[in-house]
Amino acid sequence: MRIAVYGASGYQAKLVLTELSRRGIDAVLVGRDAERLRRAATEVGLAASPRRVADRTTLTHSFAGCDAVINCAGPFTASGQAVVRAAIDAGCHYVDTAGEQLYLKTIFDTLAGEAERRGVTVVPAVNDGCLPGDLVAHLIADRLTSIDQITVSHVIVGGGPSRGSLRSALHTLDALTTGGLTYDNGAWHSGLPARNTSIVLPGASEPTEMAKFPLPEVVTIPRHVRVGHVEGLAEAALVARLSTSVPPELIDTLPEGPTPEARLSQRFTYVFDATTPDGRGLRGLVQGVDTYGTTATIAVEAARRLIADDAKPGVLAPAQAFEAADFLSAVGLSWSISPRPSPPSDRPC
Ligand SMILES: NC(=O)c1ccc[n+]([C@@H]2O[C@H](COP(=O)([O-])OP(=O)(O)OC[C@H]3O[C@@H](n4cnc5c(N)ncnc54)[C@H](OP(=O)(O)O)[C@@H]3O)[C@@H](O)[C@H]2O)c1
Repeated sequence: MRIAVYGASGYQAKLVLTELSRRGIDAVLVGRDAERLRRAATEVGLAASPRRVADRTTLTHSFAGCDAVINCAGPFTASGQAVVRAAIDAGCHYVDTAGEQLYLKTIFDTLAGEAERRGVTVVPAVNDGCLPGDLVAHLIADRLTSIDQITVSHVIVGGGPSRGSLRSALHTLDALTTGGLTYDNGAWHSGLPARNTSIVLPGASEPTEMAKFPLPEVVTIPRHVRVGHVEGLAEAALVARLSTSVPPELIDTLPEGPTPEARLSQRFTYVFDATTPDGRGLRGLVQGVDTYGTTATIAVEAARRLIADDAKPGVLAPAQAFEAADFLSAVGLSWSISPRPSPPSDRPC
C-alpha cells in the first residue's frame, strides 16, 4: 500500500506522515518546493521516502504508482479542486483534511461523475470534526423514523489553530462572517439565521453562547440522512475571533501550529442534536483531545480503508464510504447517542 501526501511540508501533513510511518504504510511526499519537502521528510524520520515536486501541470504524474492521495494543502478553496482532479486522473482514491464548506460542496457538485467513470472514491473533509459528525449523524438516523432538524455544535478548548487553519479561515472570511450554508427543505442556502444560539454542554449547568458557523457536516449529512434542516454552530467567542481578518503577514510570523503539549491539552466536544416531529429526539456526542492528531489518525485510516475495502466509486460522504460504528471504534474516538435534553429555552425557570 502506497499513499501520496500532498502539501507534505505542512503542519497537518507532517502529523499524517508520522501516522503513516507508525502504521508501516509507504508514503510519497508531494509538494511544490523541493527544499521544504526535504526538511519535512527529515523532521518526521522519512528522509529515505520518495519525494516529488509538482506544480498544477505535473500533479497527475506525481501521484503515479500510488493507491491513494491524502491532500493536506489548504486553503482548499484555492487549490483543492485541481488536486482532486489529478488524483482521479491518476486512478488514486482521494481524501483530504479540508474544513472549508464551499470547497466541499463544489467537489460533490462537480467531480462525482468523473470519479465514478474512473472507478475512484473521493471522500473530502476526513478531519476531526466532519468525519465523526457525519458518522454519528448516520447512526442517529438509523435509530429514528423521522428527523426534522439536526443542529451540529462544535466547542474546542485550548490548543489553538495552526497557521494553515488561520489561512483557510482568512480565505473563507465571507462564509465565516455570514455563517455559511444551512441545509433547509431540500437545498443548501446561504444567509439563513441560526435557529439555535446556545447549548448546554454535557456536564455544564449554564448554556454556552453559540453562533452560526460554516461546518462541513452541513454539506455531508443531508447526502445520506433524510432531514428537513441542518445547521452548524460554534462557540460565539471563537466565531468572533475567526471573523476578524488577521493580516497574512502576521499569520506568517506565528508558530506553524500548537506544540505537542498544547495539542494534548486541547479538548473538543462535538454535539449533534436531532429533533423529531414530536419535539424530542436524540443527542450524539463526540469528545476527544488533539484535533490535529485526531485528523491525522482519521485521514490515514480513511485512505487505508478506501484502498483495502473497495468503497463504491464517486464522491462520497464519510458515512457512504465507511461502516460508521466500526470506523469510530477503529480510530479510538469516544462517542455516544442518548435522548436529547430539553433545549435551554424550554427549561422551567
Ligand atoms: N477540522 C478541520 O476543519 C481541519 C483539521 C485539520 C486541518 N485542517 C485543514 O488542513 C489544512 C492544512 O493545515 P496546516 O496547518 O497543515 O497548514 P500549513 O502548515 O500552512 O500547510 C499547508 C500546506 O499546503 C501547501 N499549500 C498551500 N497553498 C498551496 C497551493 N496553492 N498549492 C499547493 N500547495 C499549497 C503548503 O505548501 P508550501 O510549503 O509549498 O507552502 C503546505 O505544504 C488547512 O486548510 C486546515 O484548515 C482542517
